Amino acid sequence: MSQWEHLHAWSPSHGGKRVRDLAHQTFGADASGLVASAPGRVNLIGEHTDYNGGLALPIALPHRTYAWVRARTDGRIRCISAQADHLEEVDLHQLTAHDGSGALTSWAAYVAGVPWAAYHSGVLSELQGADIAIDSCVPFGAGLSSSAALECAVAVAIGQLAGHPARDDEQRGRWAQVCVRAENEVAGAPTGGLDQAASLRCQAGHALALDCRSGATQQLPFDLAAHDLTLMVVDTRAEHSLVDGQYASRRADCTQAAALLGVPLLADIPIEQLAAALDDLASHPHLGARVRHVVTEIARTREFIALLGAGDALSRDLDRLGALMYASHASLRDDYQVSCRELDLVVDTARELHLPGARMTGGGFGGSAIALVPAVQAGEFAAAVSAAFTAADLRSPHLYRVEPGAPADVETT
Ligand code: GLA
Repeated sequence: MSQWEHLHAWSPSHGGKRVRDLAHQTFGADASGLVASAPGRVNLIGEHTDYNGGLALPIALPHRTYAWVRARTDGRIRCISAQADHLEEVDLHQLTAHDGSGALTSWAAYVAGVPWAAYHSGVLSELQGADIAIDSCVPFGAGLSSSAALECAVAVAIGQLAGHPARDDEQRGRWAQVCVRAENEVAGAPTGGLDQAASLRCQAGHALALDCRSGATQQLPFDLAAHDLTLMVVDTRAEHSLVDGQYASRRADCTQAAALLGVPLLADIPIEQLAAALDDLASHPHLGARVRHVVTEIARTREFIALLGAGDALSRDLDRLGALMYASHASLRDDYQVSCRELDLVVDTARELHLPGARMTGGGFGGSAIALVPAVQAGEFAAAVSAAFTAADLRSPHLYRVEPGAPADVETT
């Protein structure tokens, strides 16, 4: 491992062994159960577009959350995590959604919420319980969808046990909706669905073009190594949370702007009508800025998808892809106001090195940035980012090199 690579993803056999060992320590040496795993994600472009009915383009990370699951018949969830210190117990019959404010406040909400939402969405006909052990190498609180990875690992496991597997893309889409409901209604995070779709529907070696309104997807080859490129993820370690009100307030701005403009969703405003929409919002400049971000971001994502779809964009159109990423970052920083000093520092460092492209990824307010880097410059970029953070008196960031990984699935032996 290079010095600057903080955490390699576990191999599936290593992750499976860890979670099985934890299950045996917790639930008994003879306990037999099923193992599933699900990845975190980074979004290449298309940020804060999902809840506006727009486009996004995530890849699955090689970093995954592992879940060992054994069915129970009494409607109780007992779960343990290697990243937490004690066994949590939830009675699914007592669990109620609290108007999106979160029925449970611990990490167990992301676990118990899944069978609860599956039952209340009609995907499972019984409120079954389960014993569950969790272990993960998805960096936590880094904006890399550790929550979705947890939900989706539990989802594919309980679906398999209940005879409702997440096999084809349609079934995966349905389970993604279940996980979104768990997150929104039980965990109380008003997120939009990008993360769960990415964890369940991305394919190895591909980016997932996702139409968040229709749920339609397209798999686009994204073979960085073949083009001597690498995608670097920089976890700034600046605190990131989706339940602290900032995310919800951006979402509320979009709802208010759409209502003022008389459209169901901001994705209904074509880029050609942006100027007129901004005129209509002249007395609400901060809403205008939010709309400008969403409408231009959808246009950037559409162009990025079209370039990748036309083939060989990573060599022919690399400059344009990178310019779209930098423009996305500027829009998130200036119009949507979800960046922060640490994320801007990563992107500015990438620019100084003339790297093809970089931007914050995920919800923002901390978390991670990504950079498209010629493979030969990976070490130089890592050193420059670390030096910039030291000079700014910030904690050392964690850096990862990633390739598009595989979606959530049950373990095959
Ligand atoms: C978080 C949310 C997603 C999405 C992104 C921003 O990751 O969970 O639903 O809104 O922020 O694109």
